[in-house]
Amino acid sequence: MIQKQKQLTLGIHLRLINKLKMPNQLFINKKIGIFDKKIIVSGDKSLSIRWVLLASQASGKSKGFNLLMSEDVVAALETIKKLGIKVLVRKGHCEIYGKGINNFNYKSGLVIDAKNSGTLGRLILGLLIKSPKKIKIIGDKSLSKRDFSRVTVPLEKFGATFYHKVKNKLPLSILGSQSSRGINYIENKGSAQCKSAIMLAALNSSGTTFIKAKKSRDHSELLFKYLKIPIKIKKTKKYDFISVKKPKKINAFNYKIPGDISSSAFFMVLTILTNNSRLLIRNVNINSSRTGVITILRKMGAKIFLKNKRNYKGEKISDILIQGSKNLKGINCPSELNSSAIDEFLIIFLAAARAKGISYFKDVSELNQKESPRLNWGSKILNMMGVKTELTNNSIKIYGQPNLKITKPIIIKNYLKDHRIFMMSTIAALTCGGEWTIHDKDSINTSFPSFLKIVKKIDSNYL
Ligand code: S3P
Repeated sequence: MIQKQKQLTLGIHLRLINKLKMPNQLFINKKIGIFDKKIIVSGDKSLSIRWVLLASQASGKSKGFNLLMSEDVVAALETIKKLGIKVLVRKGHCEIYGKGINNFNYKSGLVIDAKNSGTLGRLILGLLIKSPKKIKIIGDKSLSKRDFSRVTVPLEKFGATFYHKVKNKLPLSILGSQSSRGINYIENKGSAQCKSAIMLAALNSSGTTFIKAKKSRDHSELLFKYLKIPIKIKKTKKYDFISVKKPKKINAFNYKIPGDISSSAFFMVLTILTNNSRLLIRNVNINSSRTGVITILRKMGAKIFLKNKRNYKGEKISDILIQGSKNLKGINCPSELNSSAIDEFLIIFLAAARAKGISYFKDVSELNQKESPRLNWGSKILNMMGVKTELTNNSIKIYGQPNLKITKPIIIKNYLKDHRIFMMSTIAALTCGGEWTIHDKDSINTSFPSFLKIVKKIDSNYL
């Protein structure tokens, strides 16, 4: 009886341990087969977070469709809830009951967790420019290593005060100013997060805010225009000149988030590197400030076609058709394309590793400011695959090998749970062969929870 009891407890115990040990890792030892498929990727992360934050400032009920339900976006929803805004996640859409500009309502000692999201952590500070009580922003290990001076410096000019133990790193607290006034600012990094934080602070400040901003994604500008917020934009080759005035009111708005080109990019390269394959990705945002990946891959000889182009509330959308290309060639990548491909470089590096000839990417130091130091670590992964690189703190040369054979087992571990490192490694394993163990599978929940389901849809033998 006691023996039986013991066995039973042990059984439960083992099951529990197995469950706890549920492999948060992926093992791949076989290339993906030829495919011809149609897929839809989830909603764009930048637009999802911007919709949440702007709907919180609108008056009345806004509905968001195809909102990306990833950890970064859920953290944005949790944030506005903590700030007193009602949020309902319904089947098929999400509702936000905005209370108007500067109508947050919260208790003293509020802590906001931006988790892994630089976009949330930085943009929310703009909306808190008038917060009468201190609010603390925290983040995960990766976000706590990232630079916040790019937003604290301009927001201090508006009148906000910041408190931090380690200067310009999370955790930090913001205390707003009741008399925040518009500023003149030159944004020189090409950071859309910095530009957008300033624009959100301008929503809530007297006077006009002028920004001379190095080119970066312009979703905030397009949404401001669509929402009839007083904004003027003059575009030149390198800089955009933006002025924003406080609106009287923002009307509630419904928005259907288009597919994310950054998520699509992994499947573009999967297809390009799989001969005789074809993939149609439906309904992707092709805003020209985001399509650098398409331009770069096409310059390398990839076959990518845009079908059924249309406009949606200021944004451009298209279906993307990709065909496997045998003859990729190396690229000397023009640095004007960097900002429009900033989140796609890891997967572009993989394409370069399989191209004929040497590829060169310059002025890319911003890549080391992302969820992980992607320039350094991207290079390291290519080296593990047997691909030669030459790295500086601002550039990388990749010596492509069209017939690459991976001879040693590869283990991808301890990369700060960077979701794009995980996805790049998975695509590398599926297209280059070899034996791969890729840790931190759950990192995909940051930006693309359905990533592995789509891989399986493309080739059901997988995963
Ligand atoms: C984002 C801007 C980019 C990008 C990030 C999302 C945004 O960062 O890398 O994934 O939504 O504004 P920077 O603005 O820091 O370049």
